[in-house]
Amino acid sequence: MKIQVQLLVVTFISFLMDTGYAQNTQPSTLKKEYESAFKMGAALNPWVVSGRDTLGQKIVLTHFNSITAENVMKAGPINPEPGIYNFAPADELVAFGKEHDMFIVGHTLVWHNQTPDWFFKDTEGNPKTPKALAERLRQHIEVVAGRYAGKVDAWDVVNEVIDNDGSYRPTKWVNGIGKGEELVKLAFRYASAYSPNSELYYNDFNAWRPAKRDGIARMVRMLQKEGIRIDGIGIQAHWGLNYPRNEYIEAAIDTFASLGVKVMITELDIDVLPLTKEGQVIGGVLRDPQFQLEEFEAFLDPYQDGLPDTVQKQLTVRYEEVFRIFYEKRDKIDRVTFWGVHDAFTWKNGYPIPGRTNHPLLFDRERKPKPSFDVVLNLPAKLSKT
Ligand code: GLA
Repeated sequence: MKIQVQLLVVTFISFLMDTGYAQNTQPSTLKKEYESAFKMGAALNPWVVSGRDTLGQKIVLTHFNSITAENVMKAGPINPEPGIYNFAPADELVAFGKEHDMFIVGHTLVWHNQTPDWFFKDTEGNPKTPKALAERLRQHIEVVAGRYAGKVDAWDVVNEVIDNDGSYRPTKWVNGIGKGEELVKLAFRYASAYSPNSELYYNDFNAWRPAKRDGIARMVRMLQKEGIRIDGIGIQAHWGLNYPRNEYIEAAIDTFASLGVKVMITELDIDVLPLTKEGQVIGGVLRDPQFQLEEFEAFLDPYQDGLPDTVQKQLTVRYEEVFRIFYEKRDKIDRVTFWGVHDAFTWKNGYPIPGRTNHPLLFDRERKPKPSFDVVLNLPAKLSKT
């Protein structure tokens, strides 16, 4: 009897040790587990920053040591009309980051989306001359990057200017300035002048595609040759359960690191719904009303009542796969940032088809951690043991 009781006590203590209770009653956090590997970040909206989303904010304070402005620093939200500036939400985000000692990423100075038409037109409504547009670019960077100089740690200076084939995309900015190279040179020069102490990054989706990856690398080398500062490349990671292939992710990290700049995984989320191949459906064709019809809705929006176990498992496996790559390449990676905090607010609920129920992040709609969270959290310890 005595032996049995002893056995029970020993079993109970080893159970406590296994669950971490005996050593440390505090559950661990993402930022702690990855402290020696890379920063852990999330893109924030004003609900999270202000704490109106109390639980969302709590997740950020617990698990992340870097924040990115999801929308409030983009040209449209911050400067919707000539002379009209809406700085308050961006100021609040910066104050929140400072208060909690976080690495703050401003996003983004030069992008063709969410940038008002007036940027590109003169007072008569005609397209600006290249010279006038370059001056608009300079003023924008002076005002916005200048305001947060010494406050934000880094800027995504240029977003999404390289095409799938590695050439410059014919965006409003590129066409307006006349040459992609010229646009990029000006943008980084101005950013460096008006925010000299911030790190300066290039950020793009599908940066894993070999031809696009090489185009980005060419652009970075061009800047370096010109003596223009660029400090890092953000690989947007709007990925899915089956794409991109892992070897492409690895090759992109290696290629960018070989340029001698920092490499960041930015905008990470894993789409679980149909018809978002490659994470991007350009052109919004799926916004057509026919896709809102009942039969389409059932097909396109299958997980309105929650993720079935089978898909939850696939998501967990996928998160484990990509974090294994990140962790194994931690010497080359400076930061991993999720595009959002939890599934209730993810942009993937509205893109490329509005009004769906997507489940791409580590925290669900109730702000509860999913199985993928546990796997990501425990991975560094697991890999260090092997
Ligand atoms: C791109 C941009 C982000 C964001 C996402 C979708 O990746 O860089 O700012 O707009 O699209 O939300």
